[in-house]
Amino acid sequence: MLDKTHPLILAIESSCDETSAAVIANGKVLNNIIASQAIHHKYGGVVPELASREHQKNILYVVRQALEQAQVSPSELDAVAFTRGPGLMGSLLVGVSFAKGMALALGLPLIEVNHMEAHVLAHFINDPCPSFPFLCLTVSGGHTQIVLIRSHLQMEVIGETRDDAVGEAFDKAAKMMGLPYPGGPLIDQYAKLGTAIFPFPNTQMPGYDFSFSGIKTALLYFLQHERSKDPDFIDKNRNDICASLQKKLVEMLMSNLLRAATDLKINEIAIAGGVAANSGLRAALKDYAARYRWKIFIPEFQYCTDNAAMIAMAAHVKFLNNQFVGQDVAPIANLAIAPAL
Ligand code: KG4
Ligand code: ZN
Repeated sequence: MLDKTHPLILAIESSCDETSAAVIANGKVLNNIIASQAIHHKYGGVVPELASREHQKNILYVVRQALEQAQVSPSELDAVAFTRGPGLMGSLLVGVSFAKGMALALGLPLIEVNHMEAHVLAHFINDPCPSFPFLCLTVSGGHTQIVLIRSHLQMEVIGETRDDAVGEAFDKAAKMMGLPYPGGPLIDQYAKLGTAIFPFPNTQMPGYDFSFSGIKTALLYFLQHERSKDPDFIDKNRNDICASLQKKLVEMLMSNLLRAATDLKINEIAIAGGVAANSGLRAALKDYAARYRWKIFIPEFQYCTDNAAMIAMAAHVKFLNNQFVGQDVAPIANLAIAPAL
């Protein structure tokens, strides 16, 4: 069975607050079922214990949906894949345990997937795909990385955040302005209506690393100062504050990406993760593409945010490379992208 070249794989994603399942047949993603967890909105962020309980409630439903919609019966599967990490331990455990149980019951091999590698491999779900080597800026609520991709299974993180992820910076800034969670998309909406007139500091880190905690603190003091003079300052200036903040965050991302691309002489540039939906970032990427002759890749939105289709894509590649794991596999909350030897 393992020398099959046309595998049919079920993939499960449960690293944070999305429970998702997808079926991939011979490298073609057949579906991408996602149950999002609205329960966290009222708490202003993801509550880990609630996230794992929601996964527990949703996982059977999303797996059934994925199989039924693809018209695949469990006995036809060649492997079961799952996100091993990084992510919230309680959330990962639900997906890993479910995948292990299913594989054991059906006598199928297991494939572990690194969630951050999968974000990159989402670019291979649909054409056109990037060619190697390329760079990927992966930007989400939990991560900010510049990844150098030499082949499907050879990746190296060449820059990452030393503190907050950029999505976290968007969300925390939104919270300071009284906006609901997740605030990133709202900042994006208001920013479109405003002008970037307020200056925020740029934090430069060594190499291609990022730091977003400085801009968050700067915003806190700026708002405190302005509101001491005018309590309605945020209401009156929301659009301009959002435009200023977004412009600075996008500038910080793009300047490191440009340096990496120039230093490594790479002109195929991809973005991934939830923040890849940001209109300012997309506009900047298109602008740089025109100026620096980059070929750019932006996945469909459903493949940017957390989803099992990207896990399925990564699993397909691993299947073809005979990369399976045993029943003793356990989730790893801080699983890193390890450069292949
Ligand atoms: O990849 P994702 O769905 O989940 C993980 O964090 O893994 O990313 C969610 C993050 C949140 O921080 C959210 O605020 C941010 O992506 N986000 C945005 C936009 N859409 C989603 N941030 C800025 N502008 C957007 N349009
Ligand atoms: Zn993610």
